[in-house]
Amino acid sequence: MIDGAHTGPLHFSLLTLFPELLRPFTQEALLGRAVTAGLLKFDLHDLREHAGNRWRKVDDSPYGGGAGMVIRVDVVERALAALPVQPDEIILLTPAGKKFDQKMAEELAEKNHLALVCGRYEGFDARVESLVTREVSVGDYVMMGGEAAAACIVEAVARLRPGVIGDERSWQDDSYSSGLLDYPEYTRPAQWQGQGVPEVLQGGNHAAITRWRRDRALERTLSRRPDLLPSAGLTPHDSAALVDLGVDFGKLAALGAPPPPPVKTKRRKRKPSEPALTIQAPTDGGEQ
Ligand SMILES: C[S@@+](CC[C@H](N)C(=O)[O-])C[C@H]1O[C@@H](n2cnc3c(N)ncnc32)[C@H](O)[C@@H]1O
Repeated sequence: MIDGAHTGPLHFSLLTLFPELLRPFTQEALLGRAVTAGLLKFDLHDLREHAGNRWRKVDDSPYGGGAGMVIRVDVVERALAALPVQPDEIILLTPAGKKFDQKMAEELAEKNHLALVCGRYEGFDARVESLVTREVSVGDYVMMGGEAAAACIVEAVARLRPGVIGDERSWQDDSYSSGLLDYPEYTRPAQWQGQGVPEVLQGGNHAAITRWRRDRALERTLSRRPDLLPSAGLTPHDSAALVDLGVDFGKLAALGAPPPPPVKTKRRKRKPSEPALTIQAPTDGGEQ
């Protein structure tokens, strides 16, 4: 999906009232390493720098009354206009936005420059919506500020860029990327408090391991997130696995599953003493 045709780093501009909350996040672990390697670039912008008053006040009370303070539209306008390069996307973080998911992460990972605008207090003046390319929520809950939401988006998008997490295969099998939840993983010790590791994973049969993992991913998705199945691109073999997992044959289509492959029966050589099989023509009314 991410074609690797990008020439430069993926650039994130983070606009916030609390840049120091996000700074260490952009400097540590895989993100920090990707910055050093030139794969990612971050810049932090303090909205207060664009307050336009000597008190660095960015908010005001809401028209119509009510609790809390609202971030002014002119502050956000100046902060965006001051970005040295205009971003491909300006994303407003708000619980009222479109819910962030893996598909959106994949779409954003194709861009070169994303600006993420983090709110606080009661949020933004509604006119800020006209300054952005999309409004995004990270889930159906309300946090105190947009910084954690921005961090969430950066984490999910950055890891899709070639080289950021090293081995790209590690995200292709991940929950949601494959269309299914991820299969269960195990590592040493082989025995822990009476719980072992499935035998198939300890043998060297790679085809059997691949099939086992796919079947377990199907099993997990079926029990935890059946809503994902219709768009998971299921194969006839997946359908057979679902039937083995107890799904009623007649319900496969509703899960977006194609018909399973015909069951292969072993051909037995007819003994010379056995009569040859004759196929009878159907009689009227014989079909139900
Ligand atoms: C307390 S919230 C404002 C909530 C707003 N009054 C509402 O009910 O939609 C302050 C800021 O936190 C951020 N925020 C909180 N929850 C979020 C979520 N689920 N997704 C994205 N941003 C969120 C937004 O940037 C928001 O402007």
